[in-house]
Amino acid sequence: SAIVEHTFVVNQMNMTHLCKETLVTVVNGQVPGPTIEVTEGDSVTIHVVNKSPHNITIHWHGVKQRRNCWNDGVPMVTQCPIQPDQNFTYRFSVAGQEGTLWWHAHVSCLRATLHGAIIIRPRLGASSYPFPKPDREIPFIIGDWWAMDLAAVARRMKQDNFFDYFPSASTINGKLGDLFNCSGVAEDGFVLDVEPGKTYLLRIINTALFSEYFLKIAGHKFTVVASDANYVRPYTTDLVVIAPGETIDALVVADAAPGKYYMVAMPNQAPLPDTQTPEPSTRGMMQYSSSSRPGNGAPVAPVMPDQHDVVQSFYFHSNLSSLRHPRHPLAPVPKRVDEHLFITLGLGIACRRGLNCDREDEKENILVATMNNISFLQPTAPLLAAHYYHVGANKDELQELPDKPPKVFNFTDPSLIPIGPKEKALERTYVATLARWFRYGSVVEMVFQSTSIMQGDSNPMHLHGHDMFVLAQGLGNFDAAKDRARYNLVDPPLKNTVVVPNLGWVAIRFVADNPGVWYMHCHFEFHLSMGMTAVFIVEDGPTVNTSLPAPPVDFPSCGRKDNLVPD
Ligand code: C2O
Repeated sequence: SAIVEHTFVVNQMNMTHLCKETLVTVVNGQVPGPTIEVTEGDSVTIHVVNKSPHNITIHWHGVKQRRNCWNDGVPMVTQCPIQPDQNFTYRFSVAGQEGTLWWHAHVSCLRATLHGAIIIRPRLGASSYPFPKPDREIPFIIGDWWAMDLAAVARRMKQDNFFDYFPSASTINGKLGDLFNCSGVAEDGFVLDVEPGKTYLLRIINTALFSEYFLKIAGHKFTVVASDANYVRPYTTDLVVIAPGETIDALVVADAAPGKYYMVAMPNQAPLPDTQTPEPSTRGMMQYSSSSRPGNGAPVAPVMPDQHDVVQSFYFHSNLSSLRHPRHPLAPVPKRVDEHLFITLGLGIACRRGLNCDREDEKENILVATMNNISFLQPTAPLLAAHYYHVGANKDELQELPDKPPKVFNFTDPSLIPIGPKEKALERTYVATLARWFRYGSVVEMVFQSTSIMQGDSNPMHLHGHDMFVLAQGLGNFDAAKDRARYNLVDPPLKNTVVVPNLGWVAIRFVADNPGVWYMHCHFEFHLSMGMTAVFIVEDGPTVNTSLPAPPVDFPSCGRKDNLVPD
């Protein structure tokens, strides 16, 4: 195995789209940033040189970082951020993982332009894929473009805890496409040139801050073969649905009549509350090579689902299961469960300071996003170091994530949706640094229950440092007696990001066998920034090989307390 080395220079620059120059923070002057291409088992070394005015960390989304939590890249959880004019070198291995992952800044909204693909190929080469060998592989990054200074948005959000901003456009590989124009001149779109009969592996990543996406290519089908760097039983569909944080690898065969076919990525929106104008779709083009093109007909457009048809996401994700293959044996699902957690996801109103404030006084109240009615408070010093050095004071700062919500009610009653924060909030929420401790090796079962409390969104829940078996998902309220019987304990998909359906639930299991302090959060940026987050602290095991090693010698220190961006 090799050492793959990159230098990431983080810088600010102006980019022009939609006739507007926007200040963005980027790696090596490009959006998306560089692709990290490696072979399973390689070591990766990334020198981050921070030339931007922001505090930065880079997270390697989906990389398991076994016994390597120090390199997970979460500010004030695993590390002090890399300050302006400072450097830090991340080092990690990609042993035991194959497929598509990605990297992104874990600093509020800055990840909209600070991200890129990680591609991990098998040791035995492309002919050892457990699916037909593709002729070409294409990173396919869906994102959103914000014609505004997102660092300023992040600062405002930190004060008001309210996310009242909308993306200006959707993108494929950084291109807006011809549905957008600047004074009548169409924006460039992503073009995929294909040859008849050839097979293309699209490595699809949703890096958007804001939306789940529907993806279709006119006249073509996808065969989904992997998700979150885990192989899945091949599943053929004309619609891919992908939430922020997820990756989907899909084969597309150029088997249509030679010509031009639009590829459309459309953000989906929860049906209720229907208060905002839908975000615009982006489109790229799949075009057959000219040698084989008889004429120059108009491009064919796909028929898209309704923008509000969010049940499509539920169907798509319910169809995923793990691949059974001689070279890729199914990972056994642990039968014994040590800890059961039931976690409700919703919004709420909390006091700006302290536990008691006047509910009627708007100035004292902030909108928060919660798990079991508690919203995450950013710690002021990195939790991992406190955990490692047993700095006891820090433990008092943490609030244990409870096993269940404080109250049982009809979680998905649509009449709870109306947003008039004061009217319908069922109970006070509060703000605390939520943590849950797990003994090394414990098997944890979690049911995430979406609630209608002031939200009608799905929730892509992402766990750092571990993959989760997705046992079942359903619409409505989870019913333990009935729904446990439906668990797939044979070949459930393994995911690092699970989509909790809009007004539904998902049940997962994972083995807490990676010592460290791991972030667990919704991958919608506004939910994350508003506190739909907790940390999972996995204790050391009995041996050196099951314990967290010492921090890197050149680890950044916290010169200033600000954990987002400087004011
Ligand atoms: Cu991609 Cu903590 O996230």
